[in-house]
Amino acid sequence: MFYITVSLNLFAICAILSRIGWLSELTATNFSPVEHFSEIHPRVHDARDKEHLSHAAGSSDAEEHISRLMSAISSSSFSNTRLANFRSILPVIQAPEMAIKSRITVHKLTPPKGSTIDFGAELQGADLGNISELDFDIIRRALYENQVLIFKNQQNLSPKAQYELTRLFDPSVTSYGHGKTLDAKKSILHPDLKTIPHQPQVQVIGNGAVAEFEGLRDIVLQHPHHKTFHKDVIPEAEDRENTRFYRWHIDAALYALHPPLVTSLMAVRVPRTEYQNLRYDDGSGEEMKVSRGSTAFVSSYRMYDLLSEEDKSFARTTKVQYAPHPYIWMSAARSRSDGLGLVSEGLELPRSELPPIEEEEVKILPMCWRNPVTGNLALQVHPSAVEKLHLADGTVMEDLKEVRGIVYRMQRPGIAPGLVLAVDWEEGDLALFNNRGVLHSVTGSFRPEEVRVFRQCNLAGSGDVLGPV
Ligand SMILES: [Fe+2]
Repeated sequence: MFYITVSLNLFAICAILSRIGWLSELTATNFSPVEHFSEIHPRVHDARDKEHLSHAAGSSDAEEHISRLMSAISSSSFSNTRLANFRSILPVIQAPEMAIKSRITVHKLTPPKGSTIDFGAELQGADLGNISELDFDIIRRALYENQVLIFKNQQNLSPKAQYELTRLFDPSVTSYGHGKTLDAKKSILHPDLKTIPHQPQVQVIGNGAVAEFEGLRDIVLQHPHHKTFHKDVIPEAEDRENTRFYRWHIDAALYALHPPLVTSLMAVRVPRTEYQNLRYDDGSGEEMKVSRGSTAFVSSYRMYDLLSEEDKSFARTTKVQYAPHPYIWMSAARSRSDGLGLVSEGLELPRSELPPIEEEEVKILPMCWRNPVTGNLALQVHPSAVEKLHLADGTVMEDLKEVRGIVYRMQRPGIAPGLVLAVDWEEGDLALFNNRGVLHSVTGSFRPEEVRVFRQCNLAGSGDVLGPV
């Protein structure tokens, strides 16, 4: 009965829309009113617009309702949000056959032998420079269900299009995820990233000398090597065949700015070399084979699931305080050999040596971040930047060694070899990842003549992370 009513109402809408010229070609297609109706309505978020459409479908003065809606669009009476929402359904109204269907298909990655990874997907059929609302719905859902998405053969995507794609997840933001903090010479991030002049939200990372790239001239890129950050290093003689996780992290300033929702990474130029043996060197004896320069990801949802019930409860009720200006604060400290947080030797810079600190800009974030689509909880902590823990009973743990010990004990099971997705890059690969649901790390080392160029983009979030309900 419902569908009969819906169909009849839809025919009423279509008849009206046809009369005013929007659906002139509609009758020549095998257009499905029910499909059309079910496509439009979930995408209308404003109650007033839903009412207009519903009235239009069911009343004798339907044409008047539709006309009123359209004239409201052309006037200034719509808020930006409402206008954006209505614009999102216009392609469906105007060209339903094209808009209803998306060519994008989602293919979950097959875990390598011995791996139990339960995340990662390749998306095929996407035209990333020309994304419809429906395409984006599919991409967004796929991202929050799979955490890491790979799009192949995206060589032609411009830095601007990469920025626009990244921004679709958080449309009101425009600033790079680290703001201007990269400019600080003492920041450990400073040597790794070069900003594209005409698209400052997009950074160039990689290795070797590049004469010209996107307006940058005669740049020398330096692939991060663990010897600049780890307390103990792989001996020089073993360095070519062996590597480490450089630094497990979230892409986030963790001071003043909200963490970005997503990061996009484009492999522009990739030297093809052999595989390396990645060593944990943390007493576990664990190691895994990775392609040279692969980017490692782990799921922070899996990391949470691996906790004991007691630790899950602790994680849900504890907040993490991050050091102000964390990448300057940690600049003299050194990392554990598995890249999962720092060794406590008292080498962090005192506040007196940091840039000015606004106390209200210090980040105190939940230990668990909630996935906006699945509702799952991620144990999401930047292990190198953590400074204090705020417990449920109001206690603030300030002993840095003890704080790091707790975080490390909770996170370490989640980076075991069978849980790591090591992306083996090919030129033209574009990865989009849920920066609020995974940790990632650079791996590998390159010789100066091995030129590698990547473009990275993320944007400081418009709002804070979602915590446990
Ligand atoms: Fe990163």
